[in-house]
Amino acid sequence: MRARVVPGGTVAGRSRVPGDKSIAHRWLILAATARGTSRLSHLPPALDVRSTAWCLSRICSSARSSLEGWISKSGYRDEPHGFTWDTTSSDPSTSELVVEGEGRSALVPSSGPLHCGNSGTTMRLLAGLLAPAPFTSLLTGDASLVRRPMERVAEPLRLMGADVRTTDGHAPVVIRGGRLAGIRFEVPVPSAQVKGAVLLAALRAEGATVLVEPAPTRDHTERALVALGAPLAREGGVITVGPYEHGPLDGTVPGDVSSAAFLVAAAALTGGALTVVGVGLNPTRTHFLEVMERMGVRTRVRPTGEVLGEPVGDLDVLPCHGLVGTSVPRGELPLVIDEVPVLAALAAHARGETSFEGAGELRLKESDRLGGLAEGIRALGGDADVVGDDLLVAGGGLRGGAFDARGDHRMAMALCVAALAAAGPSQIEGMQWAEVSFPGFLDALGSLGAEIEG
Ligand code: S3P
Repeated sequence: MRARVVPGGTVAGRSRVPGDKSIAHRWLILAATARGTSRLSHLPPALDVRSTAWCLSRICSSARSSLEGWISKSGYRDEPHGFTWDTTSSDPSTSELVVEGEGRSALVPSSGPLHCGNSGTTMRLLAGLLAPAPFTSLLTGDASLVRRPMERVAEPLRLMGADVRTTDGHAPVVIRGGRLAGIRFEVPVPSAQVKGAVLLAALRAEGATVLVEPAPTRDHTERALVALGAPLAREGGVITVGPYEHGPLDGTVPGDVSSAAFLVAAAALTGGALTVVGVGLNPTRTHFLEVMERMGVRTRVRPTGEVLGEPVGDLDVLPCHGLVGTSVPRGELPLVIDEVPVLAALAAHARGETSFEGAGELRLKESDRLGGLAEGIRALGGDADVVGDDLLVAGGGLRGGAFDARGDHRMAMALCVAALAAAGPSQIEGMQWAEVSFPGFLDALGSLGAEIEG
């Protein structure tokens, strides 16, 4: 689907965003494998989350019918109720899931391959879930996912005792699960997916598992496990967890702050004042706000509470009067890994250059985001380059142009936002991919004042 973006509108108002994708994957897995009845609300209908729900429906018999029901009903509707735009449906059955779990020992083999769609998080977390399950599972995915590296998750699971085979380092991945033993593992690349997979496996391993992270990454798995009473300790970058069978979960998934980042940037680029309510404020996810602050975007967070260990609150964006370039050093990158595309969109309009240093990991995302961002910014009439593993964005504004997001949700949304402040109109091909993480993205932007023809 092609979107025509016409600059000139001001993105402003009050908005909600769909539930957090990273949190939803984890809470769904934990709910379907708990002992007891879990209740989750504000689950996002994002395609990636549906992939996790579908895979779980194949391997958790007691949860199957409710998961299948949620997948088929999940959707969103435009419901103003004081919001300029709101994804919350009045029919709770579409965003709420009541799921029966019978514990980890009740997992059953899937009658066919487990299709993870476009979702790396689904594939890697499920690998950890299935490693201690005494049967064979096959995980596969779409054309983008089968190109992404899977050895990084296979290796620690093998060390724990599972038989995990990748296809030249990629999916399809075949897992012959069995008895696992705890390990001490130094995660070679900062990855919340690898960390999450090992933690899920460790819950059914004999003895303690110790993980050492080279840099902090999102900690949703740890927070949920602590909230469920698991024996998990954290000290600096060292996480220790022992075997544990957990009870059910009850919680409302916080709004996805990575989705909110696109609206924040759109408001900043168009000079609008915006409030996004009910977003997750986990510090391992909000670091992009500090980078934006350095660029001249003024935001305020107002914490309102906590759910299953996740802080939640409202996020205000004040009208922005100009952006300046910044540098994002290698050490900061894991904390803004999903926001580099939207930060690059801002950087294209900043005064001066912005550098993202040591960003090679971006080549391994849903598409090669390092090369793709440089090409995208140039395609919209700006200047950007990749030097080694660094992305350099020249700033100075965009003229407008045409870009194909090539099946990558964040690339589609970032270039669409960048185009809002270009001198002339732009065409972004592949906007349907936004549904992977931010269902209703174009409706949200349009309702907040952007001029986009779908
Ligand atoms: C995610 C972890 C990150 C991130 C992805 C979601 C997660 O990937 O880029 O969008 O939910 O654990 P890596 O673990 O590969 O860094």
